[in-house]
Amino acid sequence: MKVLAGEKLAVPPIWLMRQAGRYLPEYKETRKQAGGFLDLCYNPELAIEVTLQPIRRFGFDAAILFSDILVIPDALGRQVAFREGEGPVLDPIDANGISNLQSDNVLDHLAPVLETVSGLRNELPDETTLIGFCGAPWTVATYMIAGRGTPDQAPARLFALSQPAVFEKLIDILVEASSEYLVAQLKAGADAVQIFDSWAGILGGDQFEKWCLGPVSRIVANVQSEVPGARIIGFPKGCGTQYNTYRERTGVDCIGLDWSVPEEQARMLQQGGPVQGMLDPLRLIAGGDALNDGVDAILDNLGSGPLIFNLGHGITPQTPIAHVEQLVERVRKGR
Ligand code: CP3
Repeated sequence: MKVLAGEKLAVPPIWLMRQAGRYLPEYKETRKQAGGFLDLCYNPELAIEVTLQPIRRFGFDAAILFSDILVIPDALGRQVAFREGEGPVLDPIDANGISNLQSDNVLDHLAPVLETVSGLRNELPDETTLIGFCGAPWTVATYMIAGRGTPDQAPARLFALSQPAVFEKLIDILVEASSEYLVAQLKAGADAVQIFDSWAGILGGDQFEKWCLGPVSRIVANVQSEVPGARIIGFPKGCGTQYNTYRERTGVDCIGLDWSVPEEQARMLQQGGPVQGMLDPLRLIAGGDALNDGVDAILDNLGSGPLIFNLGHGITPQTPIAHVEQLVERVRKGR
């Protein structure tokens, strides 16, 4: 929370995107007990347990609520399933489906997730930040349109180009639902929230303004008007030279950087405020010098400004636990 307020700490705080997940045997165990993946997201007792697992094991400085960005389409009445080895599968939405989205009881549907947030705030030590989150409208829409993840999310890009007015209706619904959801998480006890825009980087030209910058700025404004002083991290993955525009236009307190951002650009971005990231998750799989060199490079480059140490994208299931331990030790040892 100090870094989000602009402070520079001698040892940066550390947490990892997707820190609760399949690289942990204890997660796989709880996941089995829960039944389906969404059952786990909507079971406060088990969701609290899996959120706490990486905190107990590694002592991260922040816990991230265990849920998924796709609970929003689920709450809007769409079919959402998670299949082993396949990722999320949704019923692809069309213009008719967009007209029929049920946006009236999003928070009722998500009540168990909000219960998880308040339970977590009670169980976590005071010094551990609790981060809530949602997906950015564009990223959530890409899965709703294609019905799954695709290499370049072409179905949603094409839909946005060929039926812009209908697509805008979808984005507007997602802006409202996501704003309400983040406000509710903050009121339930989240200390800060992150907006995951994992597919921001594939939007070009006016599409980036229309579907990324515009909608995210509206969410930030809505949240800040309901919860004054709310701390918000934006993660517009892969947006390259647009990171600065993203921070300025959206008003987020901190931007999450992926590993492709050049060192000099990252330093410049940090002049404008706190940054989070940006270790290549593959360095965490590789371990050894690849990991140490990656950590040191980030600490040398960004360690003297406001930095939250994190990966440049989510941790992968094949990550060895010993490498996560090595990472935490190396970051905490400092330079
Ligand atoms: O970070 C955390 O530990 C909190 C929980 C969290 C999950 N998903 C749990 C999850 C968070 C913050 C997310 C965000 C999310 N979900 C994003 C944005 C970040 C990113 O990685 O780009 C996206 C795009 C999704 C959608 C999603 N959910 C995909 C594409 C997948 C399949 C990929 C995979 O890893 O299997 C999921 C499933 C998912 N979400 C899992 C977890 C732990 C694995 C499912 C399982 O346990 O069976």
